[in-house]
Amino acid sequence: MKSFYITTAIDYVNGSPHLGHAYEKVLTDVIARFRRQMGDQVHFLTGVDEHGQKVQASAKKRGIPPQQFCDEVSAEFRALLPKLNISNDDFIRTTEVRHKKVVQAVLQQLFDKGEIYQAEYRGFYSTRQEQFLQDKDRLPDGSWPEIFGEVTEIVESNYFFKLKQYQAWLVEFYEQNPNFIFPAFRQKQVVEFLKEPLNDLCISRPRERLEWGIELPFDADYVTYVWFDALINYYSAVADLPGVWPATYHVIGKDILVPPHAVYWPIMLHAAGLALPKGIIAHGWWLQRGAKMSKSTGNALNPLDLVEEFGVDAFRYFLIREMNVGQDSDFTREQFLVRYNSELANNLGNLVNRTLNMTTRFAAGVLPAAEVDLRDSANVDELELTVKWEMLRRDLVKMNEGFQFHYALERTMVFLTETNAYIEKRAPWKLGKSTDPKDQSLLRTSLATMAEALRLAVAAMQHIIPSTTEKINAVLGYTPGPKWESELEWGTKLAGCKFAEALVLFPRPAPPEKK
Ligand code: ME8
Ligand code: MG
Repeated sequence: MKSFYITTAIDYVNGSPHLGHAYEKVLTDVIARFRRQMGDQVHFLTGVDEHGQKVQASAKKRGIPPQQFCDEVSAEFRALLPKLNISNDDFIRTTEVRHKKVVQAVLQQLFDKGEIYQAEYRGFYSTRQEQFLQDKDRLPDGSWPEIFGEVTEIVESNYFFKLKQYQAWLVEFYEQNPNFIFPAFRQKQVVEFLKEPLNDLCISRPRERLEWGIELPFDADYVTYVWFDALINYYSAVADLPGVWPATYHVIGKDILVPPHAVYWPIMLHAAGLALPKGIIAHGWWLQRGAKMSKSTGNALNPLDLVEEFGVDAFRYFLIREMNVGQDSDFTREQFLVRYNSELANNLGNLVNRTLNMTTRFAAGVLPAAEVDLRDSANVDELELTVKWEMLRRDLVKMNEGFQFHYALERTMVFLTETNAYIEKRAPWKLGKSTDPKDQSLLRTSLATMAEALRLAVAAMQHIIPSTTEKINAVLGYTPGPKWESELEWGTKLAGCKFAEALVLFPRPAPPEKK
């Protein structure tokens, strides 16, 4: 079996999880479930980033010790995962011993190899971004951009990681691995960034300025810079599991690609003699009226409210259907309701109900076999539908492998529309009134055809809306086989299955509030 190790970013615990965090978990989960379907041995890691200035400051504001603060907020992040039906195999907290000990081992190794040195540093520091700034970060008028918050000048002795000396190596790495970052236009930005000279990376914070961090193993007066600590989570979580490292994909947001994931991380790994991940997927942002949803701007939506109101799969469906991986997307309740009503309730929900209802009415709930005769022009509608499915089936693996989930869903919805149109045309409710054996045969065929189309569309969406597809398979009396690609073949797998009479899926929500 092929090993497939996928990670999300680890979230800062300085505030509650919002829709952006939920999206990253759902997207990663969809990829993980897809790879499991394809037969890979998947390891899926997510977790929380608990050290650093922001967390220390948030704890102080609440008047509680940082560890207690982390325990509380981390529990909130962790509790979100089952609510979103996330199939992670592990959850890491950077305050765990298993993580700290690996961070310290990596630091000690780099220090012993002479990759880390101590030097005096004078510079402007942004507390909000937890980074030293350079003159190029200033606005044309000399002031600091809003995103840096309060900027103060400090002079202190610190430890530096020799990033600069690996610049040429990294440039060559990107030349040789042109598809390392998805989407490709993001890799171009990294390559552009690397045209400017790199500075060595300050990896320590004096304890008197920041206490909440991992102690440097070679100098107890310092703690580790939070990004150096956080990035190592991907490795520390699996350091004891043979055959898992390197990661196949790190799934992250575009804001943390350059420089942490695309510059620091590959160089850290290379310097430490560890294998590099196979790739990075940088998704875009959920926006509200054009602005990034975030804790600090206060425009963040609580994902749990939407899950509570519409159910987990409507939420997952919307996020994946609406967002083209790598682009940004505006979240509006109106658009959510449009997709919910027209795609989930009307298209999918109706097909389920018609299939169950008519099979119950006309075949006592036991699905008959299709009696399609390829030479008979009476069966042209059935043939057309199978050809339409075949065209979708051929692209499904490719679309999912290329993270084109929004497109795979769009195409699946089109197929559901075509199936509903087929039912309208075939009108089994009319055939059911006829005693003509030809009509009776066509009736059985139409039941088998709609049920098979439903089974296939369900298989196509099972990694995206897993609990809904499980419910549908259950009312069809069907257990899918282990090999996903075989499940996508048009056939007779449902013949003889005993269907339930009805299933309530995606009930109509209350009309949107008038503002
Ligand atoms: O950056 N839309 O944590 P974080 C989509 N601890 N994704 C969003 C988003 C939005 N509106 N807002 C945030 C950190 N995200 C670090 C990561 S990894 C070793 C350390 C994404 O809580 C963001 O892009 O600020 C990131 O991938 C993740 O949520 C955590 O963000
Ligand atoms: Mg952030």
